[in-house]
Amino acid sequence: MSTQQECVELANGVQMPVIGYGTWQIPVNERFLSTIHTAIQLGYRHFDTAQIYQNADLLGEAVRFSGFPRKDFFLSCKIWATCRSYETAYEAVCETYDRMKVGAIDLICVHWPATQGDPMLWQSANAGVWRALEDAQLEGKVRAIGVANFLPHHLVPLLARARIRPAVNQLEIHPGHTQFSTVNWCLKQGIQVQAWSPLGRGALLTNPTVLAIARAHNVAPAQVLLRWSIERQLCPIVKAVDLIHMRENLRLYHFELSDEEISALDKLPPSTAYSGLHPDTVTF
Ligand SMILES: NC(=O)c1ccc[n+]([C@@H]2O[C@H](COP(=O)([O-])OP(=O)(O)OC[C@H]3O[C@@H](n4cnc5c(N)ncnc54)[C@H](OP(=O)(O)O)[C@@H]3O)[C@@H](O)[C@H]2O)c1
Repeated sequence: MSTQQECVELANGVQMPVIGYGTWQIPVNERFLSTIHTAIQLGYRHFDTAQIYQNADLLGEAVRFSGFPRKDFFLSCKIWATCRSYETAYEAVCETYDRMKVGAIDLICVHWPATQGDPMLWQSANAGVWRALEDAQLEGKVRAIGVANFLPHHLVPLLARARIRPAVNQLEIHPGHTQFSTVNWCLKQGIQVQAWSPLGRGALLTNPTVLAIARAHNVAPAQVLLRWSIERQLCPIVKAVDLIHMRENLRLYHFELSDEEISALDKLPPSTAYSGLHPDTVTF
């Protein structure tokens, strides 16, 4: 099976390609469409965007004019932190649906939990946003719904009121910032975890441990980090505009990491690869 067809099944039966192509910080200019077309030609089928990336309309256009059937793609979007009520979140989903023009969106996530102030208030805000996403799924605008940057103490109150459980949690995860306790908690709850910044925004590519493992397998450092994500049952969402990088990041199934190598990566100390964005302290 080719790499781009490797999928995981979400709790509601929807298939999601393991490797996602991240579109954050790809400049939204005349080259955006050709970058996405190149990614599609190379074999990417899972694309991650967000309301705040302001590229959902172009991503939808790239898919519509790709020459490949819509059903081959998995398109995911995230609703930004300014939408903290049922009404604003529901409107954001409808607006994304209208902008992408691809029919039902495969996955919509809450980008960051509300966490500030009185817990009764932020829990209620998260519940309202979640109800909007649930309604969007029940109405057929979305095939699956999820969260991003939610820790167990944000998820417990959400799950208590949920009619539909989150299918996905998208978290910053890479060696040096593994969040294993949250990952294991999510997996036990049947929530698939996606790893954002799986290369630590590039900062891990020169790490000596990563370089040594890459040399041992004759692969690129990025392939080591992405393979580690997969070994840890994560779905990496990786951004690359360089053609060589885009190719490398899809070739992850021709080698395997040993238990010792995985363990060495698990134990990398915290570094500048961590963004420093903690859901309980971010100011948005
Ligand atoms: N949910 C959230 O809150 C959240 C937050 C941040 C990001 N995300 C998502 O996660 C995606 C990825 O995160 P990210 O962009 O922060 O970081 P990343 O994917 O860890 O790293 C991207 C950087 O690594 C470089 N790179 C990619 N493949 C490479 C390779 N094979 N060899 C060498 N360098 C390589 C890229 O360079 P080139 O582009 O030059 O190829 C770019 O500079 C985002 O695009 C977004 O979709 C989500």
